[in-house]
Amino acid sequence: MISKLEELRAKAISELDSISDPKSLESWRISYLGRKSPLTQILRGLATLPLEERRAAGAAANELKEFLEKSLAQREEIVKEAEIAKAIEVGRLDVTLPGRPATLGRLHPATQTMRQMCGIFTAMGFEVVEGPEVEWDYYNFEALNIPQDHPARDMWATMWMDYQNEKGERPMLLRTHTSPMQIRVMENRRPPVRVIVPGKVYRYEATDATHESMFYQVEGFAVDKNITMADLKGTLFEFARRLFGKERKARFRCDYFPFVEPGVEMAIDCFVCNGAGCQLCSNSGWIEILGAGMIHPEVLRRVNYDPDIYTGFAFGMGVERMPILKYGIDDIRLFYSNDLRFLRQF
Ligand code: DAH
Repeated sequence: MISKLEELRAKAISELDSISDPKSLESWRISYLGRKSPLTQILRGLATLPLEERRAAGAAANELKEFLEKSLAQREEIVKEAEIAKAIEVGRLDVTLPGRPATLGRLHPATQTMRQMCGIFTAMGFEVVEGPEVEWDYYNFEALNIPQDHPARDMWATMWMDYQNEKGERPMLLRTHTSPMQIRVMENRRPPVRVIVPGKVYRYEATDATHESMFYQVEGFAVDKNITMADLKGTLFEFARRLFGKERKARFRCDYFPFVEPGVEMAIDCFVCNGAGCQLCSNSGWIEILGAGMIHPEVLRRVNYDPDIYTGFAFGMGVERMPILKYGIDDIRLFYSNDLRFLRQF
């Protein structure tokens, strides 16, 4: 058996070495490695051999098979190179012809901005967490201190899912903000927590130049002992300087969000007119960029954080708003209408 294999090897290799075209390579492959080749017959017949013989013959036959496959691959390379050289020589292949440029994709401006924002916060020690876009009423509203029938619900035009529970309620929705992730994260951890949440949110909205029914937000929050409004201001001021330039000033004013107390809106001085007043800032000198506040004690209690021990701040902001301001984009719908003339500019 072993000598038969050696004979086969010698014959196969000497034939292979003289092959110089793809067609002959294929017929060589069929006669030496194909289904009806002697080697395949030998491998199939192994089972009928007595055990001692089977082991040695099996190893040798398999070794030969691998060897032949490798030799074939090597020969294929040589033949291919020779073919190319021949094609160049006879002028059938012009290697000086410039190649077709591969068109490179790029990241969407919203993705670019979100990554930049996340980069700034992770550098300050925040961790990035993502959450579901289909959400329960409980997380989107109830646990954020916005009970059923509370007028604050009007702040978020909501898309409800058809799903009905056994009580006939429709408790499922497309999240209207990233704030529900405050609850989901705190439910599962003990302080200290420092987390940011980038993601899509949805509003039941007639779209126009300043309204989309889907857009991105970045939420952030930090909870620990001794967290104060000063931490909120310091963190967000530093964020604004890193995103909009280190000469930026920040302004905090009272605002209302049910899940924070006190609640604030933050504005930066207008980077077009440096506060003098222009079209971008509607002559006010200031541009609002986010909502924030100290997490409401009721919200902390809801997730079993003792508000007498722990405090925290939270903030949320729209992502598209940042490039809209920075580049003077006049219609938010451009982001999601897939017009390459728009997208290629970023
Ligand atoms: N979730 C709010 C919105 O979509 C934004 C917001 C305001 C988030 C204040 C916060 C916050 O975390 O503290 O309108």
